[in-house]
Amino acid sequence: MSYDVAVVVLSDRAAAGTRDDGCIPAVRETLGDAFAIVHERVLPDDAAALQAELIELADRRRMPLVLTSGGTGLSPRDRTPQATSAVLDYEIPGIAEAMRSASAAFVRTAMLSRAVAGVRGATLIVNMPGSPKAVRETLAAILPALPHALELLGDRVVDG
Ligand code: MTE
Repeated sequence: MSYDVAVVVLSDRAAAGTRDDGCIPAVRETLGDAFAIVHERVLPDDAAALQAELIELADRRRMPLVLTSGGTGLSPRDRTPQATSAVLDYEIPGIAEAMRSASAAFVRTAMLSRAVAGVRGATLIVNMPGSPKAVRETLAAILPALPHALELLGDRVVDG
């Protein structure tokens, strides 16, 4: 049994091919066997493109879980939280709080991530910061709560 997951990386450089993406492998490594990455996409830091992608993944693909990585900081191109908030039905503030709280043990800049998490339809959408290290640290912090959250959202995917 595993939950289907979509991973969307927001990075101008990775999208342009001038930097290799290490975040999707970090997600795969951290998630383990209870999750299956069935969709992965690298987009530039573009709010409209991300909104369209999130709507497609939630409304048409009905993904249980969408993880984004990158674009949560303070640069003018960091638009991930705004784009995510715009498509959410409601936020789950505790998920982002847990990520920032756990991250504070690793970096003094943990509070600079504006990541948000919440629900659109039956899809849980979670923003993570944009380095493989930050992905591992933030995802590990929320992983224990994810199966119950997905069960509550009623979109459990049974595999095999
Ligand atoms: N959280 C963890 N766990 N590990 C990190 O290395 N980096 C921080 C913060 N949160 C970091 C972290 C930094 S330096 C920034 S600027 C913000 O996340 C936003 O990162 P982003 O712009 O890549 O999304």
